[in-house]
Amino acid sequence: MPRDTHLSPHPFDRLRALLAGVAPGAEPLDLSIGEPKHAAPDFITAVLAANAREWTRYPPILGTEEFRAAAKAWLDRRFALPADRVDADTMILPLSGSREGLFLLAGLAVARRPRPDPVVAFPDPFYAVYEGAAVAAGAEPVGLDAGVAGLPDLDALGADTGLCGRLCLLYLCAPSNPQGAIADIGYLRRAVELARAHDFLLVVDECYVDLYDAEVPGSVAQVTGDGWANVLATHSLSKRSNVAGLRAGFAVGDPAWIEAFRSLRLYGSAGMPVPVQAVTAALLNDDAHAAHNRALYRAKFDMLDRVFAGLPAYRRPAAGFFVWLDVGDGEAATRRLWAEAGVKALPGRYLSQPRPDGTSAGDPFIRLALVHALELLEPGLVRLRQVLDGAAPGRTDGAAA
Ligand SMILES: Cc1ncc(COP(=O)(O)O)c(C=O)c1O
Repeated sequence: MPRDTHLSPHPFDRLRALLAGVAPGAEPLDLSIGEPKHAAPDFITAVLAANAREWTRYPPILGTEEFRAAAKAWLDRRFALPADRVDADTMILPLSGSREGLFLLAGLAVARRPRPDPVVAFPDPFYAVYEGAAVAAGAEPVGLDAGVAGLPDLDALGADTGLCGRLCLLYLCAPSNPQGAIADIGYLRRAVELARAHDFLLVVDECYVDLYDAEVPGSVAQVTGDGWANVLATHSLSKRSNVAGLRAGFAVGDPAWIEAFRSLRLYGSAGMPVPVQAVTAALLNDDAHAAHNRALYRAKFDMLDRVFAGLPAYRRPAAGFFVWLDVGDGEAATRRLWAEAGVKALPGRYLSQPRPDGTSAGDPFIRLALVHALELLEPGLVRLRQVLDGAAPGRTDGAAA
């Protein structure tokens, strides 16, 4: 029987329903969505203007030479890759934001790796697109527990030959959303070995790879010295360069999968307009703005360390810009935080697969996106802390309300 391909309600729709009719208890501060608020680099305006004549063109699906060269140069520089690791002509594909690429890849993987009862797997908690893509592709979506540590246990996956035999695609997210965990090189190597041993496509979503604290995250590109067979990575400019509205990213990896993906995209994707490709190339060629961006996030986490001091569930994340916080009951806390502190969080339940009894591993958590400027963020987080501590925001005596 064909599998149900109806998408479940999106996390942001569920959040809207949860908070419908609830008035914010203070100046609203939306921490539910990971939409960057730092400024994008000024130079993008000049690059767009200089390429204005190119709006007449249909976007070349493989990208301009300039785009592909910039993507390769960034990968080589950022991950210290040998010059022959990435071939700019056959291994790079522009994406109009990495979301659309991640979504389309599930259908491609299910079609190219036919299995009697196909599975698309991903970490749980997850970026909602992985689950939606699995469902839309007609595969069974399987969340692999990633816990607060942030990465699923690959040895458990490898031992489950029943699951591996049905697997068409495994998404990994490194650094992870929402926990901000960094995958070490050994972990990434093990993932590649599994993808080869069981012949599934491994897609490593590296969209947070340039937002990090003390430890610098690596890439799956660093463990493909013996070739990229069955491996793709996706990258995004949205968070690195604060240009979520530009819709700019790319995929890199296995030339056979890139060719199949190119062909699919030639039929169905919007393509990345040439002026946008020019801006993306300019952003990839500049590391200074990314370093500045990182410093802004570090300062906010320094502030959060103070505001959340003594909160047992708080851990400063190693990368990314989210906080994944155990508050007991994520949905109840989200309602209370909005009603009492004007802070909009996202319940962890909406990023986690329901178990047969209706509960999920994400139930106790909320996710907070530290996207706003520090000055805006701090008073909201102070109010949030007061609510979590059971004190009424605005009172300074710490007395329980
Ligand atoms: C884990 C993860 N992957 C991919 C994306 C998609 O980013 P974009 O489509 O802007 O490149 C996001 C955006 O929030 C994300 O959190």
